[in-house]
Amino acid sequence: MEVIIVDSPEQVANRAARMVSEFIQKKSNAVLGLATGSTPIALYRELIAAHQCGETSFRGVTSFNLDEYIGLAPENSQSYRYFMEEHLFSHVDIAAKNTFLPSCKRDDNPRKVGRAYEEKILASGGIDLQILGIGSNGHIGFNEPSSSLASRTRVKTLTRETVDANSRLFDDGDFQPHLAMTMGIATILEARHILLLATGENKAAAIRDAIEGPLCAHCPASALQMHRRAVMVLDRAAASALEETDYYQWVESQHVSLVEEYGHYYDL
Ligand code: PGA
Repeated sequence: MEVIIVDSPEQVANRAARMVSEFIQKKSNAVLGLATGSTPIALYRELIAAHQCGETSFRGVTSFNLDEYIGLAPENSQSYRYFMEEHLFSHVDIAAKNTFLPSCKRDDNPRKVGRAYEEKILASGGIDLQILGIGSNGHIGFNEPSSSLASRTRVKTLTRETVDANSRLFDDGDFQPHLAMTMGIATILEARHILLLATGENKAAAIRDAIEGPLCAHCPASALQMHRRAVMVLDRAAASALEETDYYQWVESQHVSLVEEYGHYYDL
């Protein structure tokens, strides 16, 4: 696991955007795993800016989102499809037909939807780069604590903590779903590269457990310890509970000089 600690949320977004842009430049038909939530919004803003100044094209890119609420139509402003259109898709040149979310309508069979999503990912060649946020309870996607580390795309019941954390995004009286379809932890671990972003002190305990805690279902993000190419980009507040900060910064400075000497960050 590579841990990159920067000063501010803006620098997290900037660093991540450079990594994603470089990735797409190297592999123009990349398959990206995308995340919703507050954290990736600044990353998407930077990617849109990079696209608008001609640096980054999404023309050949295919995307799979981590999760989607059950019971919200795509045109509902709280759905993750709507979020992605608003914060990324409608501003870049990605082909609409190549953007996928695990949408499960009320009368769909969720098992079939989950299986079909996994098959679609496989048929697209697998996810090259998965972008992740992290919940303050350590969830990745909507894999809440106690999710099987071997889980695949399926329905999850959200914890009260997640429902409360996300209630800030819903107006009074709006229907707020407690169920979502999410990629599983095993699905996420199959991505070739993982890039997790975290900002703010409310993520510090989850980040500590994910990076330095034991591998356990209680902190789903700790499963990333099993991944060979997981990079965490953190601001100082999110990194504030880590014990080995000096070591991570030392490794990072060494890594930067290696990249300068030998070239690209990603070994595709
Ligand atoms: P946030 O959500 O970016 O809104 O904090 C992250 C997550 O729940 O995965």
